[in-house]
Amino acid sequence: MNDGTVNKSRRRFLIGSTTLVSAAGGVGVAVPFVGSWKPSAKALAAGAPITIAISRLEPGELLGPMPAWRGQPVFVLKRDEATLDNLRENTAHLADPMSEKLEQQPDYAHNGFRSRKPEVMIMVGLCTHLGCSPKLFAEVEPQDFDPQWKGGFFCPCHGSMFDLAGRVYSGVPAPSNLRVPPHYYVSDDVVVIGLDSENS
Ligand code: FES
Repeated sequence: MNDGTVNKSRRRFLIGSTTLVSAAGGVGVAVPFVGSWKPSAKALAAGAPITIAISRLEPGELLGPMPAWRGQPVFVLKRDEATLDNLRENTAHLADPMSEKLEQQPDYAHNGFRSRKPEVMIMVGLCTHLGCSPKLFAEVEPQDFDPQWKGGFFCPCHGSMFDLAGRVYSGVPAPSNLRVPPHYYVSDDVVVIGLDSENS
């Protein structure tokens, strides 16, 4: 672990912390609605969907300003091939590696990466224990809370840990994986969060 790595890790941590502060008042990068898209009355009643642009996301970083949907922060993170390999290979320490708690993700995210696209992670950024916001530690490097850290999210409230697919570690207070919100892609770089499809 060299100084550059530490600084990079710390910078990401600070990005996560800072953007969370703004989550209550802000949403992601605003983009125009496309075509004649309109949410149904049912969807609007449950909380309006949001539209975000992800073209500027870099691997290992959370989208900022952090989007908020129904008053909850949404983690949007780009994953590179090394991260995807890591997620495939390191599952022994996880409580629900196959996402068998089906209520934690829509059907289209019931897969190893818990996402529609392997390279893009989209999660509700609230710990499934008591609702604190976990912090991103994206690097694979020893941490005080886990000398074998593989990269992921750490909840400082009571020590729950999640990998970069939001899968919860075994033996921590959080009872389930982070929740994947309904979402769909309007294009490669534009995502609607809050609906499963254009016709929801
Ligand atoms: S709220 Fe996250 S561990 Fe308790």
